[in-house]
Amino acid sequence: MEATAIAHTNIALIKYWGKKDEKLNLPAVGSISITLKQLFTQTKVRFSEKLQQDFFILNGLESGEDQRSRVSRFLDLNREIAGSSLFAEVISNNNFPTGAGLASSASGFAALSLAANKALGLNLSQRELTIMARRGSGSAARSVYGGFVEMKTGGNETNSDAYAVQIADESYWPLKMLIAITSDAEKKIGSTDGMKVTAKTSPYYSAWLASSVNDLAEMRTAIARKDFKKLGALAENSCLKMHGLALSAKSGLIYWNGATLNVMHAVREMRKNNLQAYFTVDAGPQVKVICEEPAAAAVKEELAKVDGVMEIIFTGLGPDAKIIGEEEN
Ligand code: PMV
Repeated sequence: MEATAIAHTNIALIKYWGKKDEKLNLPAVGSISITLKQLFTQTKVRFSEKLQQDFFILNGLESGEDQRSRVSRFLDLNREIAGSSLFAEVISNNNFPTGAGLASSASGFAALSLAANKALGLNLSQRELTIMARRGSGSAARSVYGGFVEMKTGGNETNSDAYAVQIADESYWPLKMLIAITSDAEKKIGSTDGMKVTAKTSPYYSAWLASSVNDLAEMRTAIARKDFKKLGALAENSCLKMHGLALSAKSGLIYWNGATLNVMHAVREMRKNNLQAYFTVDAGPQVKVICEEPAAAAVKEELAKVDGVMEIIFTGLGPDAKIIGEEEN
């Protein structure tokens, strides 16, 4: 009744922002991401008759009530399928800062989906695991797979077609990402609240939804052709569109700090000097810079010179989430 899983974070190149059903956590738009090798969550879950409630320990600290109940609700979905009423202890460790826009909920819920599936003997397929992970966090569905991954919004009556698929594995195209850390503070407005207020108040929301279909199609083509300039330009545009949308909500979601902008300008300056790099930013201040392998060292050197960059994390593309241990007890 105990299992441990590891799942890698992912960064969306075509962004997800907005839900069409909050209870089922159905995304209003599809998204395409890359899974990252160096950033991961390892999660152990142990179901036991001896426990009187669920416990959630994140990076060595017992979590607050909000996080614990989010994990509990997610475990309930798993217990329901298993017909189990056992409480669980969840011990999760990220090897990167939590909650600062580095997609900890993505790797976290993907790892928890796999571990709970194994510990409860649910035997869900990888596709079913993406659906389960999505219930925890939309982007988590994509962390079930390695390499290039697409999350589909689905549209059938039962929503069984809102799952993630792998477009290509991590060996297909060895892209690199440099993550410029500009702050280690927790983000102030989480993505769920941010999406809610955006959908309610932004006059641009319907345009965002309408334009995403074409963005996804173009990104699939760029990946199929290994067209880096096209992939980069699409990713940068999707990021800026998402932030433009968030900025237009009432009363304006600003996820950037000054250094975030410094990095964006520096990346554009790099391209003027024929160093091919493109940026993307999620619901936090860190800037993820994507490049091809031969350019990576030079891009890193340039990023290190930018005012306000505290640290640079270098990574390639990572693999599928997997089980690394289990025990019957
Ligand atoms: O999975 P969530 O609910 O944390 O939302 C993720 C939102 C973004 O990271 C900003 C975009 C994305 O597609 O990952």
